[in-house]
Amino acid sequence: MAQWITVWRAAQLVGVPRGVLQQRVRAGEIALADGLVSTQALLELYPQMQLEQSGMLERVVHIKEDAFGRRVRERLLPSQEVLAQRLFHQGQEMADVQRHLQRYHALVIGLRDRIDALLLQTPGGDASLRILQRELNEGLARALATEAVDPLDVMDDILKVVAAQVTLRPSGHQFAVEGHDTLLQAGLKSGLALNYGCGNGSCGMCKVRVIAGEVAKVMPFDYPLSEAEKRQGYTLLCAHTAASSELTLETLEAGGPADIPQQQIVATVRAVRELAPDTRLLHLQTPRTNRLRFLAGQSVTLGRAGSAATAGDDVRATHPIASCPCDDRNLHFYIPRDGASAFARMVFDGLLAVGSPLNLWGPIGEFVLADSNRPLVFAACDTGFAPIKSLIEHALSLDASPSLSLYWLATRSDGHFQANQCRAWSEALDAFEYAAFSELDPAAGAAQVAAAIRADQFDIDCDFYLAGPQAFVEGLGAALLAAGVPAAQMRSEIL
Ligand code: FES
Repeated sequence: MAQWITVWRAAQLVGVPRGVLQQRVRAGEIALADGLVSTQALLELYPQMQLEQSGMLERVVHIKEDAFGRRVRERLLPSQEVLAQRLFHQGQEMADVQRHLQRYHALVIGLRDRIDALLLQTPGGDASLRILQRELNEGLARALATEAVDPLDVMDDILKVVAAQVTLRPSGHQFAVEGHDTLLQAGLKSGLALNYGCGNGSCGMCKVRVIAGEVAKVMPFDYPLSEAEKRQGYTLLCAHTAASSELTLETLEAGGPADIPQQQIVATVRAVRELAPDTRLLHLQTPRTNRLRFLAGQSVTLGRAGSAATAGDDVRATHPIASCPCDDRNLHFYIPRDGASAFARMVFDGLLAVGSPLNLWGPIGEFVLADSNRPLVFAACDTGFAPIKSLIEHALSLDASPSLSLYWLATRSDGHFQANQCRAWSEALDAFEYAAFSELDPAAGAAQVAAAIRADQFDIDCDFYLAGPQAFVEGLGAALLAAGVPAAQMRSEIL
């Protein structure tokens, strides 16, 4: 019998981005009922998931080379203790269901016997009682008939033990907890803007309420949960993982940049690496107990330790973060050579030694992903690739967009200094397109990118993200508006 599951879960099962399924829902290929899809419809659309009943369990146990087996094998397993707890809870649930089924069965059989006895006492008997007897017998025969097990159901149960499924209330967002991840790490890796602070169990900002399911402590924590909080089911995301295969938590998430607190952190320089003659990768690491909470696409102000974040400070500079918020300790920046910037000179002249402290203020900016399921088009010019890379990584974590396209214009001799990364995305992901352009003049380059976007995406309803120098962003923005792109579907960052 078909089961009804969420689109997120369905995407996990058949191994496609959630956005692809959402697009098929919009196209009318999959019917939704109360936001759920039927496993029957999924099997019709993805027949490769239809494993032979006779061999399915052996396949899963031995994890042979079928698509599902590979997905199970590729996942990191949780610790033995957590795995045992999830299996225990799943076993408990099954025992509970079995116990209820047995009681319902006994109740129905008792009613049937009672009806039979009543009809025996009154030969010729009550017509409506006879109808009831017939319907009961037919219903019982249907319920007891042996039906083929839905393979997606079995796979779902196995996946939930390996990677527990967490649902957040009231947003309805879902994510999987893989390997040894805490709930906080798993949520951030899934691109969710969870509330948190220290990340190490001392501030209490990641406190959530467990509505259903069980958690297990995997990290020590100092924050004192009161007895009342414990009774009400409160727990800390940064110190716990899922001990049951399904978990429902009540928590608030950041809705946008205004919900992210301003922070000041003294980070440490981990590396300064040449990406191209005029571009350096600056890798900073925050203390374990004071990580940077930010949204993909945002920037921070950097300054030598001891300096103030004021306009008069000559070693202060604001740069977009090029890495993903899912790693809130390791922050990457692409610093272009710029003789007019004291900070850039400091980076290029080797004055930022590995291990030296650097102040960090922020995050800053509104250039973040909109809440949407449309295809995403990213256009970057030169080091405008930094916030775009962060957005792309965030979009890949969210897994909500049916396709991503990246257009990267290089106006400097450094060219596409992260071309390998772009090619890797393009090769690894079916729904990722990458096109590179070179043109000395940013405005002329914007016209080339606009023509390419119009040729590729003209009839597609997309969200656009543009980052780079003013001439590029304004030129491309104007061309897209002229082509009919609604202003509300375009976000830009001038660097
Ligand atoms: S983030 Fe501070 S206690 Fe969890």
